[in-house]
Amino acid sequence: ADIHLADEVLARLRDVPDFPRPGIVFKDITPMLADPILFGRVINAMSAPFRGQHITKVVGVEARGFILGAPVALALNAGFVPARKPGKLPHRTVIERYSLEYGADGLEMHQDAVLKGERVLIVDDVLATGGTAEATAKLATQLGGELVGFSFLMVLGFLDGAKRLGADRVRSLITL
Ligand code: PRP
Repeated sequence: ADIHLADEVLARLRDVPDFPRPGIVFKDITPMLADPILFGRVINAMSAPFRGQHITKVVGVEARGFILGAPVALALNAGFVPARKPGKLPHRTVIERYSLEYGADGLEMHQDAVLKGERVLIVDDVLATGGTAEATAKLATQLGGELVGFSFLMVLGFLDGAKRLGADRVRSLITL
């Protein structure tokens, strides 16, 4: 195991107060992404718990879930599926509306992005309330996918968001 990884990543996250709204401390992951060795170790660590679990599709949530989810998909020999903000995907979609830490939103997935019986892993940078991940899970299961788990870079206040998703299915490199 890469035992110092969490501390090294924490040292390369930038706290941005009052972004995107007053009162929110935004965790900027771009310093971590800019370091290819560290980024590679992060992708390995986010993939590792799901190796050998026959994941066939990794769903990445817009926008930072795309950056982390696509390399995790390749690491697991799985396909990549984007879950996008409404109106962005060109083909027929399914949509799930939900409420967010700051505002209400929705997520869409292409109707043919997950096939019946596919084993799905959901990837995102941050788990907060779990609303986003829960909506993503609903989209994948609605299409007939079997949800295997969730892999996050960081979890804020572990219990609430993870409980909502089923704590045993949630993996994260960092807990804040
Ligand atoms: C952030 C984060 C997760 C979500 C977590 O996305 O990347 O997707 O919020 O919050 P929740 O657990 O309370 O649902 P954001 O809304 O900032 O979108 P962006 O990645 O497109 O900037």
